Amino acid sequence: MLPFPLPVTSPAQLAYQLLQDSDWAHAHRDLDLPVELRTVLSMIMDSPEPLWIAWGAEEKAFFFNDAYLPFLGGKLHGAMGNRLDVVWADVWADVAEAIDDAFAGRHRSFKNLRLMMDRDGTPRETFWTFSYSPLRMAHGGVAGIICAVTEQTEQVAERDLHVRQVAAITQEAREAHLELVRAREQLRQSQKLEAMGQLTGGVAHDFNNLLQVITGSVDMLLPAWPAGDPKVKFLHAISGASERAARLTAQLLAFSRRQSLSPEVFDAGDGVRALTTILATVLGERVALRMALPERRLPVLLDRSQFDTALINIAANARDATNGTGEVTITLEPVAGVPAVRMAGPLKGPFLAIHIRDSGAGIEADVLGRIFEPFFTTKAVGAGTGLGLSQVFGFVKQSEGEVDVTSVPGYGTTFTLYLPLTDQPTEHSVDMTGHPPTDGAGRTILVVEDNADVADFAVGAVASLGYGVVLARNAESALDELRKDAARFHAVFSDVVMPGVSGLDLGLAIRVNYPRLPVILTSGYSELLSKNPGHGFRLLKKPYSLKQLADALASVETSTGV
Ligand SMILES: Nc1ncnc2c1ncn2[C@@H]1O[C@H](COP(=O)(O)OP(=O)(O)O)[C@@H](O)[C@H]1O
Ligand SMILES: [Mg+2]
Repeated sequence: MLPFPLPVTSPAQLAYQLLQDSDWAHAHRDLDLPVELRTVLSMIMDSPEPLWIAWGAEEKAFFFNDAYLPFLGGKLHGAMGNRLDVVWADVWADVAEAIDDAFAGRHRSFKNLRLMMDRDGTPRETFWTFSYSPLRMAHGGVAGIICAVTEQTEQVAERDLHVRQVAAITQEAREAHLELVRAREQLRQSQKLEAMGQLTGGVAHDFNNLLQVITGSVDMLLPAWPAGDPKVKFLHAISGASERAARLTAQLLAFSRRQSLSPEVFDAGDGVRALTTILATVLGERVALRMALPERRLPVLLDRSQFDTALINIAANARDATNGTGEVTITLEPVAGVPAVRMAGPLKGPFLAIHIRDSGAGIEADVLGRIFEPFFTTKAVGAGTGLGLSQVFGFVKQSEGEVDVTSVPGYGTTFTLYLPLTDQPTEHSVDMTGHPPTDGAGRTILVVEDNADVADFAVGAVASLGYGVVLARNAESALDELRKDAARFHAVFSDVVMPGVSGLDLGLAIRVNYPRLPVILTSGYSELLSKNPGHGFRLLKKPYSLKQLADALASVETSTGV
């Protein structure tokens, strides 16, 4: 005889057996329990849905059906008929209030409620969807609650996994898209530089040929011109303008990789070391120059003067970017290849990497893509030609290298030149390293040069020989400097072709007003002067080497006895 018989369909089910075996059933076998409890109990025992009931607001006796068994785990033992708050002590704090509500007659339901549940000795995160409904007696009072419940732990875990997967895929797609946009932009930039190179190269090449005719004709006319004819100045004007045009075309040819290079083998470390003074002068006193040059030799086969010019151009930009105060670090290292830069595929092989890092203003993203374009400058008129980085770009490309730039606006910029290392022996490594030992100490040279890039080089070169330097950007300001105090200068080193008063006229004026002050002129077209020997100025033909400059400066000193 069962202690607590109920009219159920299948008395063999486990939940029904547990009820019969429970202390509660034994304790209540003789009690006259309300018929509602028996009705509800037999109903849940017969239901295929997971259901439980708690009976009695005080003791909250806990009954459940077969469908509910899997949710109990290790709690199954002794659960049937036990107090609900004892069986579910681990989650009681989270549900007590809702259960009180249900006993007070209010319906409560939850969707995917998170409960830290301990069913097997370890608390685990679980999720539940359930509803508490009050069980009303005939007289209207609430005697218990019934709960329909499903566990959602797996579904939530699956959903979370799904959400994470979708997020990951979305992120991947976003990154791929950005990468594509970046790649497209880089391709566009490299195609643009390529197209510009072809255009400027073609124009500059043809233009150069025309210039040859112009300068050649002037050179034919000059010596034949009647001495003393004042119209000769028109020929000088043509010649001077041609020189400026030739300088410009040379820069454009450099950008378009069509300049003629004179490669020689030298050690890159020596090459940079020899530039130290020039670079320091270009940077100015308040920009600290640090160098990390490796012990081992790094032989390169490059046009030495283009190499020097590239580094000076980058240093001049660093000076402008730091506004004259900060630091620049030059690091040389051998690398096994060149990473892909602006869609130019990676290059394999032994390369020299020269990193030039500055602590300057950095370059904004929208500017970064344009800096190598010829004539692109963000500087004031006269302060920038926009041709410095074009030279760098053309030089490294023509030398089968690469140039890369990274910049963080507000923090600084790093230019990296990749240049192929050579296994040919270094030719005159001793000559390369040092300058002629010239001691210009105490002597100051007035340098007159209108072109910002050339001025950077000239000032650095003169300073590297140990002289003090004052730079004038045109003949007029050179004359101003002389009017202030001509005695402080030991020589004037002037470009010939300048807007306004030419270097030649400047030299003639100096000869009249400061007859003891030696003048050295520099020009790309020596014919102008060499065919007018009457002027008698010392002339340095561009491009000049440091040694030639040193000799020129030294010779005027001895010849004039200064
Ligand atoms: N180190 C640098 N830091 C910040 N901006 C730079 C740097 N180097 C180059 N730039 C930017 O690139 C532009 C082009 O440089 P460049 O070709 O040398 O021409 P320029 O110096 O005559 O302007 C500069 O005007 C400047 O905006
Ligand atoms: Mg520049």
